[in-house]
Amino acid sequence: KPKAVLFDLDGVIVDTAKHHFQAWKQLANELGFSFTEQDNERLKGVSRMDSLNILLEIGQVTKSQSEKEELAARKNERYVQSISTMDESEILPGVISFLEELNENHIPFALGSASKNAPRILKKIGLYDQFHAIIDGNSIANAKPDPEVFLKGAEALSVNSKDCVVFEDAQSGIEAGKAAGMYVVGVGDSAILKGANDYIQSMEEMSLNRLSK
Ligand code: G6P
Ligand code: MG
Repeated sequence: KPKAVLFDLDGVIVDTAKHHFQAWKQLANELGFSFTEQDNERLKGVSRMDSLNILLEIGQVTKSQSEKEELAARKNERYVQSISTMDESEILPGVISFLEELNENHIPFALGSASKNAPRILKKIGLYDQFHAIIDGNSIANAKPDPEVFLKGAEALSVNSKDCVVFEDAQSGIEAGKAAGMYVVGVGDSAILKGANDYIQSMEEMSLNRLSK
């Protein structure tokens, strides 16, 4: 049984990928190239600036640092606009009941996300007060696959890394969880996500009973 649980946000708690995709696509189109959902896969779990660099590489466009900052801010404004109407109906299936099970068993849980919008999103979906700690893009120096975000989560919950379970839908996040010495559950397809300890398609398949085995 885990002593603590660390959750990624985007793609685990809530499906924000479509909002990110629309905002990146619009930016790419303005820069004169197309951007597909397949391209968008490469941005999952990746920080905002690293995502922009990948996008510019796809479009074979070079920009100065100050131009990049303007482009990243423009993308974020649209993303924030796009998620402004988000509510608890967008929480992914199985999340609420699993959080309830953790609460009933007094197992603390924290957020470990690359997103600087994580607190805003958690407030919108009504889960902000549920998390015992929130480690997000504002509180880390090194992006996933660096383990920093999860190590800080374990520290905030005063639990050893090896007693933590991580839920992740991105390759970079699975690598971060493993590098932190944690038990990692991949949310998604094991053919795409490599190196996790267990795989589920959705949080609906998760329970403490499954983790105890
Ligand atoms: C998560 C998402 C990424 C996103 C990143 C930064 O990891 O999976 O797609 O780029 O957060 O999000 P932000 O809200 O700070 O731009
Ligand atoms: Mg994710």
